[in-house]
Amino acid sequence: MTSIEIAGARIDTRHYIKGQRVASAETFKNTSPIDGTFLGDISSGDQAEVDAAVAAAKAAFPGWSKLGPKGRGELLHKLADLVEDNIETLSQLETLDNGSLLRSHRRGVMPRVAMNIRFFADYAMNELHHPNFETRGHTNVVSWDPSGVTAIITPWNAPLMLATWRIGPALAAGDTVVLKPAEWTPLSASFFADLTKQAGFPDGVFNVVQGFGSKAGAALVSHKDIARVAFTGSVPTAKVIAKAAAENLTPVSFELGGKSPLVIFEDADLELAATIAVEQYDNAGQVCLSGTRILVHENIVEAFSEKFRERALQVKQGDPRDEDTDIGPQIHQVHFDRVKGFVDRAKSEGANIVLGGTPNDELGGLYFNPTLVLNPAPGSEIVTAEIFGPVLCMQTFSSDEEAVQMANDTEFGLAATVVTGSREKAERVTADLVAGTIWVNCFFVRDLRAPFGGSKKSGIGREGGVWSFDFYADVKNTVFSPNGWKE
Ligand code: NAI
Ligand code: MG
Repeated sequence: MTSIEIAGARIDTRHYIKGQRVASAETFKNTSPIDGTFLGDISSGDQAEVDAAVAAAKAAFPGWSKLGPKGRGELLHKLADLVEDNIETLSQLETLDNGSLLRSHRRGVMPRVAMNIRFFADYAMNELHHPNFETRGHTNVVSWDPSGVTAIITPWNAPLMLATWRIGPALAAGDTVVLKPAEWTPLSASFFADLTKQAGFPDGVFNVVQGFGSKAGAALVSHKDIARVAFTGSVPTAKVIAKAAAENLTPVSFELGGKSPLVIFEDADLELAATIAVEQYDNAGQVCLSGTRILVHENIVEAFSEKFRERALQVKQGDPRDEDTDIGPQIHQVHFDRVKGFVDRAKSEGANIVLGGTPNDELGGLYFNPTLVLNPAPGSEIVTAEIFGPVLCMQTFSSDEEAVQMANDTEFGLAATVVTGSREKAERVTADLVAGTIWVNCFFVRDLRAPFGGSKKSGIGREGGVWSFDFYADVKNTVFSPNGWKE
């Protein structure tokens, strides 16, 4: 079987290479985290499929590159139109494949997928210029030239959203693309490939190779004809990819994990603080930006905890297709066991688990209760490692200095959230926090014009706005002399 019907659409389970569907002899089973429903035998790519996809992308590059921002922009806008026409199908299949909320796919995520494509298409057409400048009568002209074939490797927690955050700017910049989606969520990328075909993309401009990281992923990132590697995923995988890319000196853009602080000061609006804190359980905690270390001023810890508990107990866990569900299951048995393992080890070390801490027995399957660990032992695994599940830690501080020190006491630096009533404090404290994105009295507000990425081990590079093009393009300076002209 080479396709499966979902939400009234046929989803191909093979690779998409040079505009064609290509099967591998080997396949792997895809299932839904909601209830284990079988979702197709997916082609498992390896060196041969990667070689074919990279060759196709390389062959398509000169034509795509020469099309220019306007020609590419027209096709990218057609693609975004098709995404919008297919929001319902995309939402349903993404929910089945990765277990996140259907209502947020319909209203937020899939419209954003279309925006990811439109924004960068428009940016390349209208914004990508630098004023010329003179050096002793010579004119410097800066341009962003297409760089070649971009390899994109993506995780499972927000599959199409995170893939298009890379695909949009790479294609707009004039690169051609080979995407390797996460093996636990292969479907939305496959359907998206069909949309590129419908939009009229030339064959080879966009390719999808399905498969495991250790095979398809490894073959892709070590390929000598890859000009850029864009990877979103975990730190251990990033280290392996960095080594492979180093062999060819391929530039990398890494968006990695986090253990972000949510700092609640004594003067905070506690209702707002509790609302933001409970949002950290969204997507069953499978969010890179999640503020999993709640740091609260000691004078308000009781009042805050009460409000937090009230809210947390209202978080409705269940089938992500139900309109009133707030959080769904973990993505996969392997990941569920990993999350549970963190909590079980913390328990055996005597951690004070004041909420949850167990699988959700009523729902069974891969559902894990929202969990809060109070005052974890400093330096212990539960408060230092990225768990990527609905597991939050709460600690107290007694001064601004201590809050900043605790917030920065992590190997990660993806995001930080601060809740305070004082502007002066907000400005002073955020200046000292080390993170790529900082939110003050809000969470998850993300503009495509803004730089996005991680400090410390949370990543390499920034994307968004011009920062994306600085990565995907070859930035060039051409110097025109005042001398030597014959006309
Ligand atoms: P992962 O690192 O296990 O896998 C990510 C992707 O890398 C998958 O497609 C996988 O097949 C591939 N891969 C694995 N080994 C590879 C290799 N040797 N060569 C090439 N590719 C390989 O991460 P996972 O578990 O899928 O995703 C969760 C992680 O992603 C978390 O750490 C999370 O924080 C991070 N993430 C970061 C985001 C950000 O923007 N900073 C956004 C979302 C997730
Ligand atoms: Mg799946």
